[in-house]
Amino acid sequence: MTKRTWVILGATSLIAEQFAHCAAQNQNSLRLVGRDKEQLNLIAQDVRLRFNVPCEVHTIDLAQNTEKLLDIFSASKDECDLFIAHSDFTDNDHLTMTSINNLIKINILSTVLLIHHYLNLDQQKHRLIYLSSVAACRGRSKNSLYGGTKAAVELYLEGLQQANYPNKHITIARLGFIDTKQTYGVPGVFYAAQPKDCAHACWKAMTKNKRLFYYPKFWWMIMSIIRYIPFFVYKKMGKH
Ligand SMILES: NC(=O)c1ccc[n+]([C@@H]2O[C@H](COP(=O)([O-])OP(=O)(O)OC[C@H]3O[C@@H](n4cnc5c(N)ncnc54)[C@H](OP(=O)(O)O)[C@@H]3O)[C@@H](O)[C@H]2O)c1
Repeated sequence: MTKRTWVILGATSLIAEQFAHCAAQNQNSLRLVGRDKEQLNLIAQDVRLRFNVPCEVHTIDLAQNTEKLLDIFSASKDECDLFIAHSDFTDNDHLTMTSINNLIKINILSTVLLIHHYLNLDQQKHRLIYLSSVAACRGRSKNSLYGGTKAAVELYLEGLQQANYPNKHITIARLGFIDTKQTYGVPGVFYAAQPKDCAHACWKAMTKNKRLFYYPKFWWMIMSIIRYIPFFVYKKMGKH
């Protein structure tokens, strides 16, 4: 018998795929959401074969800000949990009108619309995990708009955590480098953790109702130092 349905946004992300395995292993149903129908179907078939749980695919471009986005939840009879892994990335050097629009639509607008709708669904318990980034901790010359989008959602979620709604559990994962498409071939990536380990850390944090955690853990130390570096020193560490 299955327990709940995990709705996984950005389900073709390697971290999301591994998280789907954790959820399925614990006998939850899955709804995989993303743009790439073929890849989503492959992941879903694999999940059904390995874990024998229901796994649906929902193909949608999350750059839309229409009501269609909210259909993701409408078909469910079960109570849903929400794993938010979808994200757009463009570094500051490659920003254009289009990429700025996409970053804000995908990383902030669609994310906030979906969170708001999800948390207002009539169900006994809500569990949400948001994949943020250490880039949200301090503006970097390299990627401050991306970091800003993550910081915006984090701040929104922090307010919801402060409201302390009973049975609404929100976990923020502040990720350092993880070995995925996003970091592949990127200069300066000194150690990239495995997506599977990251997904397991997310599952563990969620079961313990953690509010916020860093993965890999050592990023907590790095970001604690970086956050308190005086700006005149921080400026010298920038790339220009
Ligand atoms: N890897 C890291 O080092 C790292 C570090 C910090 C934070 N994170 C965060 O971890 C999460 C997962 O990232 P990842 O590293 O696994 O990168 P990824 O493979 O690029 O995953 C991003 C996911 O978002 C989906 N997506 C992007 N735009 C979309 C849209 N318009 N509509 C629907 N889906 C869309 C992608 O789908 P498509 O397959 O269709 O492109 C993909 O499934 C992201 O939130 C990222 O910010 C990653």
